[in-house]
Amino acid sequence: MNILIVGGGGREHAIAAALKKSPKVEKLYCAPGNGGISKLAECFPVKATDIDGMVELAEKLKPDYVFVAPDDPLVLGMVDRLNAAGFKTFGPRANAAILEGSKAFSKALMKKYGIPTAEYETFTDEEKAVEYIKQKNSFPAVIKADGLALGKGVIIAQNFEEAKAAIHSMLVDGKFGKSGSEIVIEEFMEGAEVTVLAFTDGKTVKPMISSMDHKRAYDNDEGLNTGGMGTIAPNPLYTPSIAAQCMERIFKPTIAAMNAEGRPFKGCLYFGLMLTPQGAKVVEYNCRFGDPETQVVLPLLETDFTEIIEAIWEERLDALEIKWSESSCACVVIASGGYPEKYETGKVISGLDENGNAAGVQVYHAGTKLENGEFLTAGGRVLGVTATGESLRAALDKAYAATEKITFEKAHYRRDIGKRALS
Ligand code: AMP
Ligand code: GLY
Repeated sequence: MNILIVGGGGREHAIAAALKKSPKVEKLYCAPGNGGISKLAECFPVKATDIDGMVELAEKLKPDYVFVAPDDPLVLGMVDRLNAAGFKTFGPRANAAILEGSKAFSKALMKKYGIPTAEYETFTDEEKAVEYIKQKNSFPAVIKADGLALGKGVIIAQNFEEAKAAIHSMLVDGKFGKSGSEIVIEEFMEGAEVTVLAFTDGKTVKPMISSMDHKRAYDNDEGLNTGGMGTIAPNPLYTPSIAAQCMERIFKPTIAAMNAEGRPFKGCLYFGLMLTPQGAKVVEYNCRFGDPETQVVLPLLETDFTEIIEAIWEERLDALEIKWSESSCACVVIASGGYPEKYETGKVISGLDENGNAAGVQVYHAGTKLENGEFLTAGGRVLGVTATGESLRAALDKAYAATEKITFEKAHYRRDIGKRALS
């Protein structure tokens, strides 16, 4: 089997590594890929959002499957276009990817089908939005851009002035472009966050091992929100009874709702959950594998990944038993100094072997390039140092021991990944 992976971050590196384990996989291709991925897959310089370019590449390579990993091409309809050109795919069509592409859509879906989530209203008019905030007079208030905004479209306003400024920046100043021309204002939820990725063929839903992301840039959850600074799996807060509750109240109803709307979802559905005192609620849906959640979930997958991809395409996921390791997994992200704001790139990375890896761990490359045999930094998040162990503690110890030996100018990583889960 030959597979073309669309994307070029740590998530795509983890997907490539998981596929490489399958005896059925002959060749892996990736576009655009990165320095680390180029050691596992032949990379092509086609942007993940370039739909015409990707269809053209697929026509040249003739892969058995195209795995579309990032959100933007999914929302833009890359899967639809690939299917129309006769290619088998992994990932939802645009009419299902809207679950991530529009928060106004996903909130309305949850309301209509009684799926637990924060109370909300949507607005396109500044005055009405400000009036709503004034009347509610409850802070913090959560203000979200409707569309994709690189994970930065959520503002938690602590008071009226902050809320007003956030509304103005989105609806009037166009801070997030078209993505922010409609906004969602919702109730602030309190509780611990859990990520559950789930395989679904549109009929059956099979949750993967749960995980915990660390979104803030600095230790003790200080600093700005990032794409994710580290992850652990499983998430110990996600107990079997919470999992059972989520299955009945959230996962199955979401799949059924999408079907009822004529939008069957095929691929990986990401449930961002908040464990509130009133039970688990949906914070957000993503239409794809999370990053860096994938880096700790896929290493625990024991079933041949290609069998899952085929079962989803052929809509027979119900008959497939998916096996998971009992181990724990931890991923520490090494980022460029200054990320998620301004940062420099092109720094030489030391401490990696010739495959871009390190002893005892798996180093997933998020933002690197390979030049004259050297790995250079090429993004905000650079590497995800990932280890498995019999316990979370063992996995974290291994990941941190390796992380300390990998350096580049102004490298930054959090020292407290998984700490909350250990206590
Ligand atoms: P989202 O992009 O919707 O996942 O939001 C990003 C982050 O903002 C989430 O991971 C939460 O930490 C936080 N957040 C979003 N919505 C809420 C909410 N209603 N209440 C509390 N925190 C939230
Ligand atoms: N780690 C969060 C995301 O992938 O959106």
